[in-house]
Amino acid sequence: MTRYTSTDDVQEENLQREYMEKAAVYVSALKEELGRTPRGCVVTFGCQMNARDSEKLSGILIKIGYELTESEEEADLVLYNTCTVRDNANQRVYGRLGYLNSLKKKNPHMRILLCGCMMQEPAVIEKIRKSYRFVDLIFGTHNIFKFAQLLVTMYENQEMIVDIWQETDQIVEQLPVNRKYSYKSGINIMFGCNNFCSYCIVPYVRGRERSRDPKEILREIERLVEDGVVEIMLLGQNVNSYGKNLEHPITFAALLREVEKIEGLKRIRFMTSHPKDLSDELIEVMRDSKKICRHLHLPVQAGSDRILKAMNRRYTKEQYLALVEKIRTAIPDIAITTDIIVGFPGETLADVEETIDVVRKVQYDNAFTFIYSKRTGTPAAAMEEQVPEAVVREGFDKLLKVVQDTARERAALLQGKVMEALVEEVNEQDASLMTGRLSNNMLVHFPADVSMLGRLVRVSLDTCHGFYYTGHIVD
Ligand code: SAH
Ligand code: SF4
Ligand code: F3S
Repeated sequence: MTRYTSTDDVQEENLQREYMEKAAVYVSALKEELGRTPRGCVVTFGCQMNARDSEKLSGILIKIGYELTESEEEADLVLYNTCTVRDNANQRVYGRLGYLNSLKKKNPHMRILLCGCMMQEPAVIEKIRKSYRFVDLIFGTHNIFKFAQLLVTMYENQEMIVDIWQETDQIVEQLPVNRKYSYKSGINIMFGCNNFCSYCIVPYVRGRERSRDPKEILREIERLVEDGVVEIMLLGQNVNSYGKNLEHPITFAALLREVEKIEGLKRIRFMTSHPKDLSDELIEVMRDSKKICRHLHLPVQAGSDRILKAMNRRYTKEQYLALVEKIRTAIPDIAITTDIIVGFPGETLADVEETIDVVRKVQYDNAFTFIYSKRTGTPAAAMEEQVPEAVVREGFDKLLKVVQDTARERAALLQGKVMEALVEEVNEQDASLMTGRLSNNMLVHFPADVSMLGRLVRVSLDTCHGFYYTGHIVD
């Protein structure tokens, strides 16, 4: 399929701007009624892609006259941008919806909105229609760019509005964005996923893989840099297959080479890499780059070949280990992190031992470990042999211990080194400290003040506290 910024997309952008003006009229009437500026609260569940979507949704809320608040209690409009990758994400949304209802009873002006991946599941919509009738507006992942228009529809109607699309080929990216950080930003380079790992619901709720035109991506990054951004994170479910379906195909590595040339941009990150598509060209580009961070997130999911096959991951343990070896040889100082699932149907403790063996061999700098969650509609949900909870727990605890020990050992290796950190925020516990992020994604806390925000500084890593450091700026 060919994708370019078509006149359709531009027309759509203009249309949505008109709806923003219309929505602004409703918001200003509300302001009059309230005697103050209405407050909107956007709550994000899930991954970086959802976080980026929330920046767009908040951008539109501000544009039409809301001010943002982090407190649902204070808000006149609450929007939950949901995730459905594991069932606990869903349960959290249902739990909090009950609480929102109690707030709505106290504030008759309050509007409750839901969007994101969970809304792409018909069973969820059915449940909300039945048991959460106080929700005002529901939309999905494919029509998020229609937010302004959907808001107008909501203001003009009393009953619940539900608008879910099964797919879209539109890429509408030129609408207002409210960035959470002034100095760093995520940027979508592709949408959807074609991999259909057998446990995963993402391809069903995010649709087929679509890459953005490289020129559009570069232009967006240039604009971000002009606006003060020094670090960007290129986002996609599988960035290694970026560009394959464009009219003029281009590799992810080639895109990175172009991004590297952007003057003023200091750091480049990306998420996520599927091991099966990671090319030698990418390793070379990373090795030679001055800007690409020394961090690779390379989800392994499992170590047993039998389970990997059932997961439809399309690599073996040996292939994965060989890939890691190749990367480490080319880029010795790279940090490698991963995602692991325990309790996939049919997984035995012997299989988990294989996963643990991978963790020992790779020496991950960090690993996110998840208990398998059955997602209705995925092939794995229909597999027999769902693993008993006690067995899952035993394997999980054992794995977690090895993961933590390994990560601690890796972190300790940096003791005494001086490394570059991007100053990201005021330390949460101690306001005399700032928190910085190293190229390898590790955090370091050091005395500094808020004027250093967004600056790259050289920091001595003095004391290791397990997974992070405290240190001081050297100049
Ligand atoms: N596209 C990314 C992952 C997106 S989901 C990739 O392929 O790496 C993030 C992580 O959630 C996955 O890596 C996986 O470890 C986990 N995950 C996905 N589906 C899951 C499920 N059904 N149960 C438990 N964990 C799951
Ligand atoms: Fe899910 Fe696999 Fe796609 Fe990642 S690559 S989003 S785990 S289907
Ligand atoms: Fe969750 Fe959707 Fe991301 S299911 S992990 S928010 S793509």
